[in-house]
Parts: sequence; structure tokens; C-alpha cells
Amino acid sequence: MDKQFKRYLVTSALPYANGPVHIGHLAGVYVPSDIYVRYLRLKGRDVLSVCGSDEHGVPITLKARKEGVTPQDIVDRYHEIIKSSFERLGMSFDIYSRTTSPMHNVTASDFFRKLYDEGKFIEKSSMQYYDQEAQTFLADRYIVGTCPKCGAEGAYGDQCEKCGSTLSPDELLDPHSAVSGSVPVKRETKHWYLPLDQYEAFLREWILEGHKEWKSNVYGQCKSWLDGGLQPRAVSRDLDWGIPVPVEGADGKVLYVWFDAPIGYISATKELTPDWEKYWKDPETKLVHFIGKDNIVFHCIVFPSMLKAHGDYILPENVPANEFLNLEGRKISTSKNYAVWLHEYLEDFPGKEDVLRYVLCANAPETKDNDFTWKDFQNRNNNELVAVLGNFVNRALVLTQKYYEGRVPACGELSDFDRETIAELSEIKPRLEAAIESYRFREALKEAMNYARIGNKYLADSEPWKVVKTDPARVETILNIALQITADIAVAVEPFMPFTSAKILRMLNIGKFDWERLGALDLVPAGHVIAQPELLFEKIDDAAIDKQLDKLQKATEALLAAEAAQHIEPQKDSVSFDDFSRMDIRISTVLAAERVPKTKKLLKLTVDTGIDTREIVSGIAEYFTPEELVGKQVPVLVNLEPRDLKGITSRGMILMAEDADGKLRLLQPGEKVASGSIVG
Ligand code: 2FM
Ligand code: ZN
Repeated sequence: MDKQFKRYLVTSALPYANGPVHIGHLAGVYVPSDIYVRYLRLKGRDVLSVCGSDEHGVPITLKARKEGVTPQDIVDRYHEIIKSSFERLGMSFDIYSRTTSPMHNVTASDFFRKLYDEGKFIEKSSMQYYDQEAQTFLADRYIVGTCPKCGAEGAYGDQCEKCGSTLSPDELLDPHSAVSGSVPVKRETKHWYLPLDQYEAFLREWILEGHKEWKSNVYGQCKSWLDGGLQPRAVSRDLDWGIPVPVEGADGKVLYVWFDAPIGYISATKELTPDWEKYWKDPETKLVHFIGKDNIVFHCIVFPSMLKAHGDYILPENVPANEFLNLEGRKISTSKNYAVWLHEYLEDFPGKEDVLRYVLCANAPETKDNDFTWKDFQNRNNNELVAVLGNFVNRALVLTQKYYEGRVPACGELSDFDRETIAELSEIKPRLEAAIESYRFREALKEAMNYARIGNKYLADSEPWKVVKTDPARVETILNIALQITADIAVAVEPFMPFTSAKILRMLNIGKFDWERLGALDLVPAGHVIAQPELLFEKIDDAAIDKQLDKLQKATEALLAAEAAQHIEPQKDSVSFDDFSRMDIRISTVLAAERVPKTKKLLKLTVDTGIDTREIVSGIAEYFTPEELVGKQVPVLVNLEPRDLKGITSRGMILMAEDADGKLRLLQPGEKVASGSIVG
């Protein structure tokens, strides 16, 4: 197990104040970080949790320009939305600050200035795009053009959102300015660079040798950055929104957002406590950064190099980054408005904050990208929270009210079954602790739920409702044990579901107890009177889920229309009527379908073409399950030359529609037709 630290400083990635927070952010960063800090607090550790809004950067200025308001208006709006929705979800930051705060301005400026004074930067002039019409240099995000990799229009100078490639403005085809639409020219400009190449040896030693325990996705990304060789990185930008570069001759230049944002962790701690230095400067502090995978390089390579260059600060002990959460099979996108927004969820599902926390933790993208679906949300609520956790707690409390008017009965002599149950329960705590301390929160949640699972089984097998008729003394022991388990649950689920924990404690009429007492057999003493039970969770019906699915459907339609408008494949060269007539397309019925072994994409379909029954191998396994294809009628190009694929002769091709994002859809006749019907 972990080295013991004197105190903990936990940071959660500062969300950009250019939009509200969505479930992807929550599952990737905030739910895990809150679980971790709540657990540490329960353990009585000295811990600070800091976060705040990241209020600089180009996306904010772009949004402001689009809406005809100032960047400050934008960040004020989203800072409030984010801050209040975090609070309502029960996020327990000790401070939620913002990078437009005066404290941050001073802290980030001083940081830069120290590095500048000590000669830690390189000054370099280079040719960068300049918009003559708007009289401004163009940050990478302000240059749009055609992606050289996938041909999509509207790619940015730093990234193509269509294919995900990282780009530089010089690679863009047909570049033009997002500000005025004009074609930019190149002009010379001076910037300050942090020579990351000079920190390579330190980073190799510190991460590759010193932190082999980091999550493999994090370690792997660091290794590949380091193996690829590091380059100096510009830490300033030509922009009128941000923290001015605090040196002479830097008019119109601001700190690059990724230089100032992580310093925001320090500023927030300073705002929080005059004691901030011991959290940032004493090596007995364990600094942990919770982030999403797109932030790994900044937190593991760039920020540590900045801290090292500065010299006064400790380095992170761990950076448990998660992968991404998708939504109903599609990438979540703030700019495309495809997301489940936290503030909307809180409106739509009042009182169900913990359900979201539970589902996002149970399905967190810890080791690979995962998918959130509303069906899974409903199932987990109904089958796990209602049927397991809620059911157990409710039975224990209701039976205590019913048999003893709420007075906790005494525990008599234990049966073998009681002892086995208690032994089984006592094994949970070390596993739960080990899981949380190594950032495996999904597993930790399962362990916490095990108290309820074991409790349910205990009640189901010991049947107090039957035994009460024959052996009432035995029932006293059963319910005493059930109430101790209920108290265990209240503490074990607190990091994950704080509202539920508080409600259970209220119903038990006891205060919060320390983590160390978890598993004790006198958490609720005999004779103590509990409060009236209420239901912990309610079932979520199909109508509520359908409403959410409808909302997403509308967002998807808008998104596809926008994508299609942005990128319509140009028409191909003309073909003669004869050429077209040579293609024999028939409506065919899928008789059977199965995956082609050892492939990810291929399905083998047996189809009735009306002419014959034949096999077709199709690269559609990512989009359809074999079961959903059987019985469907689809157009098949039947006279395509046969091809051998994975040892199967494929005789024909299924014709399908491809979405703007590459997702395939079946084309089906409006009504059933005879197999073999000609398409033409
Ligand atoms: O990816 C993001 O949302 C960034 N705003 C995270 C910044 S984290 C830190 F460095 F402040
Ligand atoms: Zn692209």
C-alpha cells in the first residue's frame, strides 16, 4: 500500500467556462475526484479539494464574438451555471474559484515573471497568420480550412474535429480567418517558449522510472510523448483575452491558456487558506490531479516542467486520468450541443443527484472509452439502487418499526449464519479501501454495494417475517445485525452517494461516524430509537427515459444536418445509362448472420437474393448485431465480382447509407417486397 502522506491536495481539471458541464466531464473527472476526497475526509485525513473555472482561451473569445457579447459576459454566465450545478450534485470542493480572479492574475503573472527573470524561457520570432482586415494575429483556433487528412471543411488550425487529427495551421488547406473570413497573411511575431526538450531527462526519470504505478493509459501516453522527443512550447499568444504577459514589449500578448490554467490550482489554494504553502511546497503533501485523457500531456509533461523550472513546488504524485464517455454511441460535444448537461439533468430529475453519481461511477471510462445510455441509467436505478440498496434498507427499517416501534432490539447469541455473514462483511472494507486508493472507483462502488447485497441475502435467508411467529428472540438479533449493516452502508456509500448516506443516517437517527468504525457491531446501539423510514430510491419509468431519448434524437438530427451541410461529398463523374444498367441490385432478405471469428468488423450474412441463397461478408459488425439483421430486407449489388475474405467467398455487397460521421444505417423498402425485386 501507499506511502503515508501528511496531507493531500486534490485538484480537479478546471472546466472551460465556454459551456455547461456535461456527463462526460463528470464521469471522467469530477465524480471520481469527489469520491476520492470524501473518502479521505472520512478517514480523517488532512485534505483540500480545489477546482474552478478555466476562463481564458480562444473558444471563449470565439463564442463571445459569435454572440456579440464580451468574453467576460460568457465566463460570468457559465461560471455561475457550472458552480451552482456542481454544488447541487454534491461536489464537495473546498473552493471553486475562477481564473479571472485577481489572485490568479497575480499568481500566474508572478510565476511567469520568475521564470522569465531566471532565463528559463527562450524568446523566438516566427511567422504567424495575421488577419489584415481585423488587424489581429490569429490563434490556431481562429484559422479554419480544409483538413489535409480527411478533407473535412471547417477544420481548425490546431485540430480537425471530424477526424480528430492534431493539426498545425500550416497544414490546413485553403486557410481563412474565422474572425473576418479573409485570407490571412504571414507576419512576424515574438513569443516566449518553455524549452521542454531541456526537461526530458528529468521527466523520463521522474515518470518512466519513478511512477510505474500510474494508470497504464497515463503512463503509456507519457512514454510515447517522451519517446517522440519534446519541443519548446510557446507559452504566450497574440490575443486580447487572457493574462497580459508581464514583461516590457509584450503589448497585445497574453499568457497561453495552458500556461495559466494549471497555475489556477495554486491560486485557488491561496484564496482558500493562508496555509496554502504547506500544501504546495512540503514533500509530505500528496498532490493528485484528476483530469480527462485530453489533458494528460499538460498535467504530466508541461505543468511538471513549469513546476520544476520554478523550483518552489512539489510535483503530482499521481494523475489518474480517465478515458472518454460517449453518449448513446456518439461522441459528446459541447460545441455541437450533443450532451446530457448537468444543469438540465438536475432540473429533469430532481432529488436524483445520487442516481447520476452512481451510474457515472458504475460505468466510468476508467480503462477505455465507455458509453452512457439512458436505458442503462434506468436499469441501474431500477435493478440496483431500488431493488438492492433501497430494498434492503427499507426492509431493515420498516421491520424495526413494525416489530419494535422503532427501538433497536438487542443482539442475542449469534448463529453460525450470523457469524458467516459478519465475516463476509468484514472482508469488504480492505478491498474497498484498496480500490479507492488505487483509483479503481468502479470496483470500489461494487464493494460498497456489497454491504447491501449481503444484507439482502441475510434477510432473505433468515426470514425474520416468518421466524417472528416462532422465535421472536431470534428476530431481535437478525434485525440488530440488519441495522448495523444499514449503518455500514451509510458510511460506505458516502463518497459515492452523499445524499443517500445522509438520508440513511437521518432515518437511523444517528450522526456520521468515522470510516474506521465501519464494520463495528454497535454502530446503532440497542435501545436507540430510529426515525420513520422513507423510500431511498424510486423506480424510473419508460416515459422519463423516452423524454431524454427524444431530446437526444433532436440534438442528433441538428448535429447531422450541420455536419452534412459542412461537408457534402462532391458529385462523382457522370456514368452512362448503360454503365448504370450493368449493376444488378436486388432486394434480398437476410436469412442468417454471424460474426466472422477473429475480426472486429466483419459479419457473414446469408441472404436470399431471389435468384439464390448466398453468403456475403460485410464490414458492418461495429454498427449492427447479427440478431438485428436477421429478417431484414436490404438492397444487394448481386453482380459484384466475388471476393475472398477471411476464407469466405463474398458474393455481393449490401448497400447502406453512411451518416456524416461514418455511422452506417440500413436502407429498407417502405414495405415488404418479394426477395429478388429489382432496384433501379
Ligand atoms: O480541458 C479542459 O476543460 C481544460 N479547461 C482543463 C484545464 S485543467 C487545468 F490545467 F486547469
Ligand atoms: Zn480531418
